[in-house]
Amino acid sequence: MMVKGPFSFEYARIAVPDLDASRTWYQANVSLDLASRRDGHTFLRAGLKHHALDLVEDRSLAAAQVRAFGFSVESPEVLAEIKARVERSGAPVRELDATQQYYCGGGFTTVDPTGMAIDLFTDYQEFDQPPLLEQNPLFAVHPFVATEKYDEELAFFLNVLGFRASDYIANVSAFLRSEDRMHHSFAIKRAKGFEVAHICFMVKSFDHLMRARAQAVYRGVTIAIDMSNHSASKSIAFYLLDPKHGPRIELCDGHRRLTIDEHETMKPRRMAIDPRNIDIWRAAEDDWHDL
Ligand SMILES: [Fe+2]
Repeated sequence: MMVKGPFSFEYARIAVPDLDASRTWYQANVSLDLASRRDGHTFLRAGLKHHALDLVEDRSLAAAQVRAFGFSVESPEVLAEIKARVERSGAPVRELDATQQYYCGGGFTTVDPTGMAIDLFTDYQEFDQPPLLEQNPLFAVHPFVATEKYDEELAFFLNVLGFRASDYIANVSAFLRSEDRMHHSFAIKRAKGFEVAHICFMVKSFDHLMRARAQAVYRGVTIAIDMSNHSASKSIAFYLLDPKHGPRIELCDGHRRLTIDEHETMKPRRMAIDPRNIDIWRAAEDDWHDL
């Protein structure tokens, strides 16, 4: 019996200096829809799940700050197994954020080696209908974190939370999957300091991706990384950035979902450190611009 990890990445909680400005930015540029407001939280949704972003206001901030990542878990039994592993690891077990408790069946929060809160919960609430917005993304796919504690973070996600490795780039990047079998629902890279490098959303088609890019160019929104073709997940993507509202936001089309058989048997690749192993459209081994 394989160890089971969380089911799916669901949301990021982001503290922002100006809540109304950030809500408007995500609605305009990522086509997220307002799900609800509660206790100072503004919840924005993609697809059927209750929210993909949980925005809270902190006027003391100069730039947005990610405060938590939320992952659903398929059953109380798997949640109990994860909780037991977290307790054995010595990582904290805390009450879920009080407002998040309203939107799920129950769970707990731990803290990963980088200091990030990780919410784990069952029975995440959903809607019957997706937002009536043609450009609304399908769902949130993954966060990508950079950390000087790469080895500890990797061990925590693999051995404690129960993620599985899909691909590595040497010993500097790891792409990890959860039980929803998306190629990666969490990714880590080795760095000199901590940063949430990006949060990824999957759009409905390549046309939706290119339309979102055209709108970003038209509005003067910074494109931090332009069109890329990812060797790991087989997705095509670009990245928006406005530090007032959050980390880079990756919009992607075609992120690979493994088959059940691949999920059980696939061995992670160990790819060379080469920009063409991150974006297969890169021109040469030293073409690192923007990456
Ligand atoms: Fe990504």
